[in-house]
Amino acid sequence: MVLDPFCGCATTLVAAEKLKRNWAGIDIWQGAYELVKQRMTDATGMFGKVTFTNEPPVRTDGGETSAPFLHVRERVREPEGPPWTRAQMYEHLLGQHGPRCMGCNREFDDPRYLELDHNTPRSDGGLNHISNRILLCGPCNRLKSNTFTLSGLQRENKKEGYMRCGVRYSGVWSNI
Ligand SMILES: C[S@@+](CC[C@H](N)C(=O)[O-])C[C@H]1O[C@@H](n2cnc3c(N)ncnc32)[C@H](O)[C@@H]1O
Ligand SMILES: [Zn+2]
Repeated sequence: MVLDPFCGCATTLVAAEKLKRNWAGIDIWQGAYELVKQRMTDATGMFGKVTFTNEPPVRTDGGETSAPFLHVRERVREPEGPPWTRAQMYEHLLGQHGPRCMGCNREFDDPRYLELDHNTPRSDGGLNHISNRILLCGPCNRLKSNTFTLSGLQRENKKEGYMRCGVRYSGVWSNI
């Protein structure tokens, strides 16, 4: 069964017909029907068995979703109250965890080596709120990027061993 949801000028459908496949085509352009009909008749001499509709299809599955994970994530709203400043968040996290990177757990003499980041990335709907903020060393922050959550980063650090982090770190230092 070949489905071409943008079947336009029918190249795919004609190929499918020639290969004796069942096929279905969809196109937003009304003219596609005439074109498909014409090309199919020219190329294969058939069009009689083909059904065509411009009625929207009727659901027969009782409204179930087969792939709920494809749904657009609902945007969570920031909790009420005045937003914290970056300095307040820093203070709070330093108070809770000490001057440690929450990604690799290394302790720093100078907390300025720690960068304020998001646990769930902003691009995945993560909040600016303190509940979603973490302190990371430079290499962990760059490794995490927008790809990992904090637990993903910690797993990655374990997998790679701290050596890589150390190597990257000296690289970063030499840039400061
Ligand atoms: C390059 S043509 C496709 C060619 C086709 N696959 C073939 O084998 O000949 C692109 C088609 O997509 C259709 N199209 C664009 N947006 C669409 C949409 N949202 N839903 C259905 N068809 C759409 C256009 O009308 C156009 O006919
Ligand atoms: Zn780190």
